[in-house]
Amino acid sequence: MERRLYIETYGCQMNVADSELMQGLLDRAGYTRVERADEADVILVNTCAIREHAEQRIYGRLGELTRHKLRRPGVVLGVAGCMAQHLRAKLIERVPQLDLVVGPDGYRHLPELIDEAREEPTLAVRLSRVETYGDLVPARADGVRAWVSIMRGCDKFCTFCIVPYVRGRERSLPVGDVLRQVEHAAAEGFREIVFLGQTVNAYRDGDVDFAELLARANRVEGIVRIRFTSPHPSDMSDRAIEALAACEKVPPHVHLPLQSGSNSVLERMRRTYTMEEYTALVGRIRRAVPGVALSTDIIVGFPGETAEDFEATRVAMRRIGFESAFVFKYSPRSGARSAEWPETVDEEEKTRRITLLIEEQKGTSLLKNQADIGSIAQVLVEGPTRRNPLEWFGKSAHFKTTVFPHRGESVGDLIPVRVASATPHALLGEGVRAASFAATEDATV
Ligand code: SAH
Ligand code: SF4
Ligand code: F3S
Repeated sequence: MERRLYIETYGCQMNVADSELMQGLLDRAGYTRVERADEADVILVNTCAIREHAEQRIYGRLGELTRHKLRRPGVVLGVAGCMAQHLRAKLIERVPQLDLVVGPDGYRHLPELIDEAREEPTLAVRLSRVETYGDLVPARADGVRAWVSIMRGCDKFCTFCIVPYVRGRERSLPVGDVLRQVEHAAAEGFREIVFLGQTVNAYRDGDVDFAELLARANRVEGIVRIRFTSPHPSDMSDRAIEALAACEKVPPHVHLPLQSGSNSVLERMRRTYTMEEYTALVGRIRRAVPGVALSTDIIVGFPGETAEDFEATRVAMRRIGFESAFVFKYSPRSGARSAEWPETVDEEEKTRRITLLIEEQKGTSLLKNQADIGSIAQVLVEGPTRRNPLEWFGKSAHFKTTVFPHRGESVGDLIPVRVASATPHALLGEGVRAASFAATEDATV
């Protein structure tokens, strides 16, 4: 039996990490990796369900991939991840050529599931309260950055969000498994660790909380940076903030999703904090970590979001001054609580609101980046930019994409770059022209 595997990944970093997990499992089951679907006997699409748009895009892609089955009937086409869990059997009704639908807690048995799927359409969508895959070894893609999931699932049940329904209950990996993964990644040559979890700072294994985990990871040799995403504002303890300040490998950047600047919207979103509490938290983080960069997630057009609510979000973003922000149009997700509430903001108005926030954020990001001109950014080198092989890029400590003329540096080096100019999306070293670098390397605004 031919065993050539192709995995395509959509969604957040947790899905990227899950694909690496599946790859690791299937490597050991004797599969070889191929880079293109038309060379594969098993095609897996790891999917996202966070917004309607994500699912629409994946339907389109599945339509294309079914063509491989027409030409080569032996091909196994499988869908994994959050959309698989969200739609379950409905996905097979909609795309009858599918052989396998496997949710985020079904990956341990993937080799057997694929064998079953060769015989008949197979569904594995039971969620687990305990599965963490902590004992498995992911096959990580090359680069400087290793994704390490330290927890799975989410218990917050924000009313707009599908994640608790498709990823199940919150559970943390045993601390031994996390540290073994960090050490393993270091031994493989990775320089940066990114701890992943939907509420990553809610991590707990016995007495070991997120703060203690950072402290222990901070001692692993070979790793120069430890990042994490996404912390939840309500789970950000003083201990965690102290750890951010104390661990020299944890850079001064926190992604802290706000979602809305209006208390009434925050309450209906069930975010469990007020704007005042969020602002106070930002103050505590800024006092503990001077010069810290903050980024955020915002949703516009949540049911009932009035012009005043939206204005409050605008004001909040301006007052706090995020280095960057991801802004999304609200998308009702069947199963999540708010999908039962009538939408009050039409598409045109959502577009108006998102455009305004993105424009304003661009201005803020530009000012923040221009303030770095003349200073030295410590850059962890990632490689050449797509546009110009002589210009390389990496992230600064503040997680800003920084472009510099290549003079023999290697991937993984930590180098000082004097910032000579800036765009809303990047810091540019001496001799790099703004025009040569667009937002393509990194779509953050
Ligand atoms: N666990 C993270 C968020 C993960 S999802 C947290 O709580 O911050 C990433 C982002 O997608 C969210 O922060 C939110 O801004 C956005 N999002 C989630 N559900 C959405 C929906 N139904 N419509 C639009 N945006 C959504
Ligand atoms: Fe979704 Fe809220 Fe959980 Fe984040 S914290 S994953 S937004 S339910
Ligand atoms: Fe999407 Fe699932 Fe991540 S819904 S954003 S891939 S947790």
